[in-house]
Amino acid sequence: MNTITYTKHNTLLGEYQIKKLEEERSFLDLIHDHGIEGFDAPCGGNGTCGKCRITIVSGSVSHVTENEKKRLSSRELSAGIRLACSCSPRSDVVIDLSHHDLESAVISAASSGGRQVSRIKPRITRKPLDMLPDGSLEDQRALLSKAIGNASASLSMKVPSALLSSLHSHIGTEADLVLKDGVPKRIAHRGEKLYSIAVDIGTTTVVCYLVDLEFGEVIDNFSGLNAQKKFGADVISRIAYATSSVEQQVRLQRAIVSQIDSGIRALAERHTISPEQIMQITIAGNTTMMHLLAGADTSGIAASPFIPVFTDFLTVPAVELGFTFTPNLEVELLPSVAAYVGADITAGIHVAGIHVDNTPSILLDIGTNGEMAFSISDHIICCSTAAGPAFEGANITFGTGGVRGAIDTVKLDDHTVSYTTIGGIDPIGICGSGIIDCVAELIRTGLVDYTGRLLTPEETDHPGIKYCDGDPVFCITALDEESADHAVYLTQKDIREVQLAKAAIAAGLQTLLSEAGVAEADVEHLYLAGGFGSYIRPESAGEIGLIPKQLVARTKAIGNSSGEGAVRFSCWEDHAHDILTVAQHCQYIELSGHREFQDFYIQEMLFPMED
Ligand code: FES
Repeated sequence: MNTITYTKHNTLLGEYQIKKLEEERSFLDLIHDHGIEGFDAPCGGNGTCGKCRITIVSGSVSHVTENEKKRLSSRELSAGIRLACSCSPRSDVVIDLSHHDLESAVISAASSGGRQVSRIKPRITRKPLDMLPDGSLEDQRALLSKAIGNASASLSMKVPSALLSSLHSHIGTEADLVLKDGVPKRIAHRGEKLYSIAVDIGTTTVVCYLVDLEFGEVIDNFSGLNAQKKFGADVISRIAYATSSVEQQVRLQRAIVSQIDSGIRALAERHTISPEQIMQITIAGNTTMMHLLAGADTSGIAASPFIPVFTDFLTVPAVELGFTFTPNLEVELLPSVAAYVGADITAGIHVAGIHVDNTPSILLDIGTNGEMAFSISDHIICCSTAAGPAFEGANITFGTGGVRGAIDTVKLDDHTVSYTTIGGIDPIGICGSGIIDCVAELIRTGLVDYTGRLLTPEETDHPGIKYCDGDPVFCITALDEESADHAVYLTQKDIREVQLAKAAIAAGLQTLLSEAGVAEADVEHLYLAGGFGSYIRPESAGEIGLIPKQLVARTKAIGNSSGEGAVRFSCWEDHAHDILTVAQHCQYIELSGHREFQDFYIQEMLFPMED
């Protein structure tokens, strides 16, 4: 007998349906049983359209059918891709539905002999006040004790005084005592919805998620460029600004708090929610962003030996940080690991599940710093490497962020260049995914050699190669023009910047593998976290040597896992405990002065040669 559990993986959350199966069912049947919307099965399960593709992530499934052999390539089959209508589970199975136009979803099916999936425990619970037993001479327990029941009471139980003053008058009415982690927090009318705010503070972008705590679902979000950007584009320049004077540190803190405060206000107005209906603010981000929000001194992060003020999970009163819309809330700061492996990575490890899937797996977040974690058995090692801003376009001649008009994909053949731009408008520059694509194509077509040298117009008749101010450049646009004056192009220096950035990240990965004593070929999964990871093509990342070529087929983008981790933390006790455990079990490896890292860095400066 099987049980099946459906877990939305991106907007979340948690298992919400369990079905017992008496007989063998195809994955397509199971997907329909669980009401998963958006799954593409145009022929209705007749096996003729080949569109109902799923990826078997782990577990045992039925043998490949002749029909599947006809409709799937051997490469797809070896990557675990199957047709949902022709395949059924044989054991605990995890499948990935992200081929389809639905939020990335995961189904876990557990056989009765295997792991049983337990119901996830919410952090916010309600106790009906009209169901409390009456007091009597035999039962003189206090109202609050009766209302809490078996919920944990601890020395640090902080109960609002307003609740104590109104509890008696609500006993016997259609109201609920609302508890957070077992501690009474307020009284809510029956049916009154409760919410949390989960925030991902990225160095570039801030996203506030409004989460319905009853279902653990994100119902809306508010995002924008990080308001601290005007004080510095990256972590180091922001630390430099913050450490110049107390006033400047306060300015940075005010900027981010006020941005999140405005986001919460906007979400509340959109959904007609009062501040009292919001139970907490939960925040993930890199260690510097967490420090700047908390008003902590960041000077220790910038200089060796890189000692932050805090990495533990902290709870800070919102009013003390300057929140005005929800001053009475607690702000929860997710745990970090070290100065350059932040709460965004602990959240990402939890969301990717690399710490529990029992296979060697990597989580990689590419930004100005490449933060990465490697999990083998129950051990997690992690590190951070300074990649510089090339992939954010900052030191590239026509580099730009992922904005409208940025060239985001590039393809070459012998005489043409094709590209796309974000928003499909005329190109204004080239963003990180376009830069990686373009360099990969230049290597593939031999216009750049493995040392990174760009051919000159004398060495090739490709119309993209021209001179500009006496130096060869590769024009992505305006190939028909005589000169490169009106083109978006890459210079030799741009290509060198890409080499430096990719060498730092690739060397970090090699160092982790070496520390763990695991070969590239034995890595089962490479998860790309963060917005940038969602846009780059793994094939191009492999071509330039940013990630090992062997791992391209095992690479998967998992989106904003920092934000998703914050959402999970805010809703579910099990997830919150898991994230705290992840942080405690991560072992940080410092790369500055690491001998092997230096050697790998020099090796990885070269682009991969053809096999
Ligand atoms: Fe068409 Fe499976 S639904 S092949």
